[in-house]
Amino acid sequence: MSTAPVSPSGKPILFSGMQPSSDSLHLGNYVGALKQWVQMQEDYEAFFCVVNLHAITVPQDPEKLKASTRATAAQYIAAGIDPEKSTLFVQSQVSGHAELAWALNTITGFGEAGRMTQFKDKSQRFGADTTSVGLFTYPVLMAADILLYQAATVPVGEDQRQHVELTRDLATRFNSRFGDTFTVPVAQMPKGAAKIYDLQEPTAKMSKSADSPSGLLSLLDEPGVNKKKIMRAVTDDDGEIRFDREAKPGVSNLLTIYAELAGQSVESLESEYAGKGYGDLKKGLVEVVESVFGPIRTRTAELLADPAELDRILAGNADRANEAAQATLRTVYDRMGLISR
Ligand code: AMP
Ligand code: TRP
Repeated sequence: MSTAPVSPSGKPILFSGMQPSSDSLHLGNYVGALKQWVQMQEDYEAFFCVVNLHAITVPQDPEKLKASTRATAAQYIAAGIDPEKSTLFVQSQVSGHAELAWALNTITGFGEAGRMTQFKDKSQRFGADTTSVGLFTYPVLMAADILLYQAATVPVGEDQRQHVELTRDLATRFNSRFGDTFTVPVAQMPKGAAKIYDLQEPTAKMSKSADSPSGLLSLLDEPGVNKKKIMRAVTDDDGEIRFDREAKPGVSNLLTIYAELAGQSVESLESEYAGKGYGDLKKGLVEVVESVFGPIRTRTAELLADPAELDRILAGNADRANEAAQATLRTVYDRMGLISR
């Protein structure tokens, strides 16, 4: 099973996920992940997961977590993930994730887990007493997510590459220790996926953990809020609309966002806006952002207005995911010598 895994449909298997860490996804999540997923679902047997078990590795509010889990799933659907075509589900609804994570914990080295840079960063920030063992073993749960479905392809941002490397190491180790069981997956930085920067601090990645929300465009914010943020975005004094990441990070970021959302090249925008002012570029961008965000916002609101129907869709997809997960888990348990009933 370690080579050329394909699904019954003949398509390669893809797994990816995002944490439900706030009600609204931001523009970076949309351009760097969601938009790519929507395109990839045509060519892969895709599993898209709202990874709520990962979200409880840091202090969290249970009521908020419930709301943001549904809101994140709704935004996946609103942005174009088709729950009939892809399997879109909530991690905690498929018990195999926690079960396989436990099994993989037992073949993960303490030192190996301790070398994960994201853990080192986060635990340093929180301090030893607030850092949970769950946060330490977060990458092992992520490995379980991927390996349960025999995924070959894992689209993730650069910051998750080390976790996928760990996943590969664990799969290879398990296969050699217990017999060929897991597909060894490959991290795929989505082709051409742009990195989006903060509108106020255009050398820092757009992120919900930024000091101020004024540089962040949220998918679900009212158009007026995003308009204000775009019109106030940091540019420079040179006045020329030209892409130059080093010398003109603010303008370059605006051009990248515009190009990504309008489906246009940066070069064509440079000529379209030649001789015009930053205000014109920003006004154009306000419209483009709303043309993409508007329909997503409306559809998300519709989905969230009928939580019973949304939960029904998610449950059906979790059933599908569970079937695939159980097949892998049965083999894993058997190979490890855990008797079944
Ligand atoms: P996060 O919100 O950091 O957990 O990221 C979830 C997904 O969104 C990951 O696939 C990231 O690579 C992607 N992402 C987050 N922020 C950005 C950004 N500023 N630019 C591009 N992609 C991003
Ligand atoms: N850790 C990932 C992130 O923060 C989210 C994630 C959890 C994930 N499990 C995954 C991504 C499996 C890809 C595959 O972005």
